[in-house]
Amino acid sequence: MNKKIALGLAAATTMAMAMSANVFAEDVITIGFAQVGHESDWRTASTKSCQDVFSAENGYDLQFVDCDNDSAAQLEAVRGFIEQDVDYIIIDPIVSTGWDQVLTECEDAGIPVIIIDRTIDDSDKYVSWVGSNFKTEGLAAGEWLKAYAAEKGITEINALVIEGSKGSSAQIGRTDGFKEIADAEGWTILDSQDGDFTQAGGQEVMESYCKSYEGQFNVVVCQNDNEAFGAMDAMKAAGVSYGINGDVILISFDACTAGLEYVITGDINGDFECNPLAAPTVEEVIKQLEAGETPEKEVFMPEHWYVAEDILASITVGGEEQELTVVTQEIIDAQY
Ligand code: AHR
Repeated sequence: MNKKIALGLAAATTMAMAMSANVFAEDVITIGFAQVGHESDWRTASTKSCQDVFSAENGYDLQFVDCDNDSAAQLEAVRGFIEQDVDYIIIDPIVSTGWDQVLTECEDAGIPVIIIDRTIDDSDKYVSWVGSNFKTEGLAAGEWLKAYAAEKGITEINALVIEGSKGSSAQIGRTDGFKEIADAEGWTILDSQDGDFTQAGGQEVMESYCKSYEGQFNVVVCQNDNEAFGAMDAMKAAGVSYGINGDVILISFDACTAGLEYVITGDINGDFECNPLAAPTVEEVIKQLEAGETPEKEVFMPEHWYVAEDILASITVGGEEQELTVVTQEIIDAQY
């Protein structure tokens, strides 16, 4: 083949590839995403979900900032996106307050904001929120413990709680939901401390609980899987047995793959799901906005309540009967 024709063909192929990859600047939708950090398996799954959906191949330019659980850094990231004049801003708010000023700045700049996962309490200047009902998760954990204790003939509950990062709506909702049932049932919550949603935090808090409350507790509630991994290490080291064959009932939240692997072995008794795969729904919201439509203000992610033992079919949460799912290998293989 003549060299000129070959070069022409190569250029045409490159152009066709570029067009199919939607990389022409005017077609690309630029998104700034201010992510909480990288503290947990859940967070890794959430980040991956956004990076997979908002990829260059799908026609997006994703500006991703890991805010490392630092609220000031998160506000700075959002202001950086305003300066870059991105098309959309996605925020997973580290804490639920302190947002109105920066969201007003986004509004003034004409940039639509979509909130994912955690909620914002002091502003409604965003087009849509996609996430979980954390209070329902806490209520479900409490209702399950109530039904499980009745089934097992356990009459006294002395619980230790390892909370998630203080001020996050995930920590606030799960704490309030579980406490509501604990108060109604007359359970004792011996202590409730911040484990910062990390394995190291869960281990540290549990080590101190094992010393301070030796022989006094029969329930440990960890507000995410990573804290539960740390708590298990601390209990093992202190000679405290847990899970379906142990002295302590262990409850967790998130139900990521690694968490469910401990449910199937019976080490974690119940794991209350928090679904991190919001990105496909966020993309639907963006498509609606692009089409000039008005998206739903609130979209709740579907979630399951996973348990180790096949002894209860369902629980009643907020007056509604909700199914309990016994973990199988098939479920674990399909999980995030
Ligand atoms: O906001 C969701 C929570 O944050 C998840 O439960 C936890 O794992 C994460 O760090």
